[in-house]
Amino acid sequence: MEDSIVLYASPEHLNSMLILAKFISKHHPSIPVIILSSAAESAAASIAAVPSVTYRRLPTSDLPPNLTKNPVELFFEIPRLNNPNLRDALQEISQKSRIRAFVIDFFCNSAFEVSTSLNIPTFFYVSSGAFGLCVFLYFPTIDETIPQDIGDLNDFIEVPGCPPIYSLDFPNGMFFRQSNTYRHFLDTAKNMRKSTGIVVNAFDALEFRAKEALVNGSCIPTGPTPPVYFVGPLVGESNAKNGAVQHECLRWLDSQPSKSVIFLCFGRRGLFSEEQLKEMALGLENSGHRFLWSVRSPPGKRNLAPGAADEPDLDELLPEGFLERTKERGFVIKSWAPQKEVLSHGAVAGFVTHCGRSSILEAVSFGVPMIGWPIYAEQRMNRVFMVEEMKVALPLEEAADGFVTAAELEKRVRELMESKTGRAVSRRVAEMKKAAESAVREDGSSLVALGKFIDSVTRVDCGID
Ligand SMILES: *[C@@H]1O[C@H](CO)[C@@H](O)[C@H](O)[C@H]1NC(C)=O
Repeated sequence: MEDSIVLYASPEHLNSMLILAKFISKHHPSIPVIILSSAAESAAASIAAVPSVTYRRLPTSDLPPNLTKNPVELFFEIPRLNNPNLRDALQEISQKSRIRAFVIDFFCNSAFEVSTSLNIPTFFYVSSGAFGLCVFLYFPTIDETIPQDIGDLNDFIEVPGCPPIYSLDFPNGMFFRQSNTYRHFLDTAKNMRKSTGIVVNAFDALEFRAKEALVNGSCIPTGPTPPVYFVGPLVGESNAKNGAVQHECLRWLDSQPSKSVIFLCFGRRGLFSEEQLKEMALGLENSGHRFLWSVRSPPGKRNLAPGAADEPDLDELLPEGFLERTKERGFVIKSWAPQKEVLSHGAVAGFVTHCGRSSILEAVSFGVPMIGWPIYAEQRMNRVFMVEEMKVALPLEEAADGFVTAAELEKRVRELMESKTGRAVSRRVAEMKKAAESAVREDGSSLVALGKFIDSVTRVDCGID
């Protein structure tokens, strides 16, 4: 019987799973990879032409009417409701091939009991990086040893391999024991501790201390640590290759001096209030530097009608005369920026980012130093790692409610562009860019790790017969 590797992605993480599938297929094309997800077929279009990878859509169960409205809880609940369909799919696949590894993302945690009950070796794919993985694997120990809710702690927490993390920088879901999200996180961490192995989108040089702590076992004080495979940085291909029309902001970048432009872009859910947008505009104007800014409508002012462009009204949102006064050195994009193309452009000198993991890896891969402005999820924690350990970013100080003043933004942009600290961060990112390139070369650390993962799963005699 032929071997196969099955990847199971929540719709939220499908994209990073597709990138992993392509990476496996590129370097180990003889192993068939099957991706399971309840996301629409069209969401997986990017693997359509990859010969050893197939997409298989799981039928979705009807959602009960009383289902939670909390988005993070939903990310966990939907795969749980799909467990019967998953079981059917795994059994069916097992009739034609031997499933050597079942690799799930974080939100698909509930699949763990299904696959392990079928004796399929189950791995987690962690796209949020190695420092984040240390925190996560150590979480059950925090739960046992810290007697109160993290959200009320108001103190630093020590996690092996990581700098001290202030309690409020932890992801919200880890705050309060009574919340359902907390239970999901804890349960996921416990399963991760028991998994056959963990594949991480990370590379040795960027998160060295985290790797040491993972390898020497200190993140799981109560038992052995599963093997951890650093296979990154895996970043998606740029869309430019698909023959898409060049975005006008790229033509504008062509006309700017080398390494002169600050790029601001905050991801899918990075929306700001009108007041905050005005403050950002002032900060950029006062910095005197060139900028490329992706502006989106504030929550509540968005046009969510199907097919609507949802373009912000810049004249209304930005300070009066701002666009006119900065037209020689600024370019404002209404809504989406082609982020990878922009980051890879030689005119870009810095990136103000929400600290999402894929943005961090893209910036590092293209050698662009960052200013960290976290918004949600694990982004505040990511900023601690970026600033204190990876040293690839400057922090931005915000008020308790997250508001950032014009003066603060101006100060950080100037610091990045004009100061010794800024130059040190730029040099460090340039080194990490080289390290990232070597990691994914033929004998680089990430390809060696991928090879070990493939060897370990194809060598042992297991799976369902
Ligand atoms: C494991 O590695 C971490 C990170 O380098 C280090 O701080 C810790 O002391 C090490 N622990 C052991 C038991 O070697």
